[in-house]
Order: sequence, then structure tokens, then C-alpha cells
Amino acid sequence: MAASARILVLKHLHGRTSCYFNSVRSNRMVSSIRAYSSKLSPPSKGVVYEQHGSPDKVTRVIDLPPVEIKENDVCVKMLASPINPSDINRIQGVYPVRPPLPAVGGYEGVGQVHDLGSAVKGLSLGDLVIPSPPSSGAWQTYVVKEESLWHKLDKDVSLEFASTVTVNPLTALLMLDDFVTLNPGDAIVQNGSTSIVGQCVIQLAKLRGVHSINIIRDRAGAEDVKERLKKLGADEVYTESQLEVKNVKGFLGALPEPALGFNCVGGNSSSSVLKFLRQGGTMVTYGGMSKKPVTVSTSAFIFKDLTLRGFWLQKLMNTDRAVDCRVMIDYLLSLMRDGKLKYEMELVPFDKFPVALDKALGKLGSHPKQILKF
Ligand SMILES: NC(=O)c1ccc[n+]([C@@H]2O[C@H](COP(=O)([O-])OP(=O)(O)OC[C@H]3O[C@@H](n4cnc5c(N)ncnc54)[C@H](OP(=O)(O)O)[C@@H]3O)[C@@H](O)[C@H]2O)c1
Repeated sequence: MAASARILVLKHLHGRTSCYFNSVRSNRMVSSIRAYSSKLSPPSKGVVYEQHGSPDKVTRVIDLPPVEIKENDVCVKMLASPINPSDINRIQGVYPVRPPLPAVGGYEGVGQVHDLGSAVKGLSLGDLVIPSPPSSGAWQTYVVKEESLWHKLDKDVSLEFASTVTVNPLTALLMLDDFVTLNPGDAIVQNGSTSIVGQCVIQLAKLRGVHSINIIRDRAGAEDVKERLKKLGADEVYTESQLEVKNVKGFLGALPEPALGFNCVGGNSSSSVLKFLRQGGTMVTYGGMSKKPVTVSTSAFIFKDLTLRGFWLQKLMNTDRAVDCRVMIDYLLSLMRDGKLKYEMELVPFDKFPVALDKALGKLGSHPKQILKF
């Protein structure tokens, strides 16, 4: 690309106009911004994509210029941010809501207040905050947003958990609350049980005295994975191939037939979830990791009168429930602090982004959630 063509206006970073450009141009641009702005963020480093496609092909880490800090704005130095499947889908261009291009990747994370606009009253320098609701652009070292879009956390929470608490643990909690009334002694069934959502479902269900039947992909070392999930509180864990039978009642053991199932995967794996459900049961689909459709047998509809629902956090967080969600996030963080909610993560320095991305893309086998540390 010619040097002059490298100046790209990123109209949509943090909802305002910004630019990135090569070093020759940067000083001139910064001084022209200074001419009309009283406060600026530090320059940032971010993961940017200019077109949709495979994330390992279309993303690059580049320098981003300072942006204006308006009177109600808070400038946050990002500390950590995960690579979630939906981040990958946004970059691929297959997520229903995508930031306009060019865009900075990432959606949730945690950071520390670095600078404040003159009218900010509720936050102070050094406060630990998460974007709430989360929004695109978390994979950069400094983020500027209005005060109301940050949620302050207690300082004693671990960075990894704080950076990941919104998208997956909150999804698990909301799905357990929103669809079927569960009482102690009831059971739920889910696939994708090794995912962060799945691990949180196991632990949050257990805390309510609700049993969980869990389905995982076949793999070498499946027994170790089963043990690990059982240590988290899973009652039963089966591989997908174990459940390739017509009737799964024999796999229930002493557990009641579940009224609620969660589908993270689709394809045959979702059929296994359906097979476990009791008469009138509900399956909630929230992920499509296998990229295969959910198919339901005619007999399951007629004779079991099943209900199929869907869950999408992003839609819910743009409603009045966003306020409740902050209370739920604080609850989840308190569980994490008390050691009652946990999951494996791998902290990766930001300059190792390509390796973390390959792991998150599944190119190097199954790995714990990759957390970028800025
Ligand atoms: N609808 C919503 O609002 C919402 C909110 C949060 C998350 N989600 C979705 O929930 C799902 C899990 O997210 P997460 O961040 O918790 O996951 P994660 O921790 O990143 O783990 C990925 C999970 O996907 C499984 N997986 C990967 N490739 C697969 C394939 N080809 N077939 C079957 N399973 C596969 C992995 O299983 P292995 O252990 O076998 O590798 C693992 O369980 C994603 O689809 C995500 O988009 C949806």
C-alpha cells in the first residue's frame, strides 16, 4: 500500500472518528487534534481488521493515534481481554451485528481508569472497570468511552475473571434463570460442557442443588476431561459417541429427566440434548460451534411436545435488563472471589497475539480460553 493511502479514517472506534496512520504522518495529525481538544488519550496499540475473513489472515496489530477525551468520557488502560468465539465470528463477518470496517477486534475486557473528562463524577483514577454493556474494540491498549458505559469493580478481583465475566458466565446465569423454573433436585442437560459457558452452567446449577448431565466432544484424554468437569460439580459426563443410541434413559442413572437443555454445538450433539429432555422440556440454543443445524425428529415434537428457544446476550444487554446484568456480574465476581466459580484460562502477552489467536481458532487442538494481557 502507498504511504499516502495508509491513512485510514476509522470512523467507528468508540463511536467517534479516529485515525490510524504511518509514523511519518502521526505527529502532524496529533498536533492538529491538540489544536481543538483539551484532553487526549495516549496513543494505543490495537488489533485491527480492514476486511472480513479468517482472523489469522485479516488482523494485524498496529499503532492507533490518541483520541479526544470529552467531558463525560473516561480513558481506560486496558489490562486484559479474552478471545471469544463471537470475536472470531465478528472478524469473519458472520456475526449478525458487526462493527463497520475498519474495526478494532475484541468485545469484553477489564482495565484501569487512566484519565477522566472534566464532568466525570463517579469514577477515579486507578479504578478497575469493565465495559458494560461490552462493545467492539476491546483489543487495544487504551479505550475511551462515556462514564455511563463503564462498570466499576472491587479491586480484589482477578484480572482474568474480570475480563471474562460478562459474555460467558453471565450467559450461563441468565439461561438458568430465564427459561424454566428449576428447583433443587431437578436436572439440566447440556453439550459443549467444556466451554466457559458450560463450566459455569455446571457450577451455578450445583450451587442451586440442580444436577447436570454433560456432553463433550470425543477426544483423546476424554476420561481426564470428565474427571475435571466432575470436580467442578458435574453429575454425569458423556462423550457424543457414547450417546449414539436411540434411548438415553439408561444414562440418567438416579437423576430425573431434565426439563431444560442448553445447546452450544448443533448437529448430532443437539439431538443428544433433545433425547434427554422430559415431556414438555425446553432446549435453549446459544451457540453453534459445529456449524451444523439443529434437527428435531417429528416424534420428539409430537410425543414429547418439546419447546425450542434461543438466547442472545447482546440483544438482552441492550434492553432495560442491562442494569440487572451489572448486579448479576457483581454476584458472579463474588462467587469467583470465594472460589465457587472457576474455569481455566491462559494469559498471553499482547505481543503474542498471533499464537493466542491460533489457539482460539482451534488450530493447535483444544486450549483453555486465551486472555490477552496488555
Ligand atoms: N448466544 C449468546 O449470547 C452467547 C453468549 C456467550 C457465548 N456464546 C456461544 O457459546 C459458545 C461457547 O463460548 P465460550 O466462550 O464459552 O467457549 P470457549 O470457552 O471458547 O470454548 C469453546 C467450546 O467450543 C467447543 N468446540 C470448539 N469447536 C467445536 C466444534 N467444531 N464442534 C463442537 N464443539 C466445538 C470446545 O470444545 P472442546 O473442549 O471439545 O474443544 C469448547 O467447549 C460459543 O458458540 C459462543 O459463541 C453465545
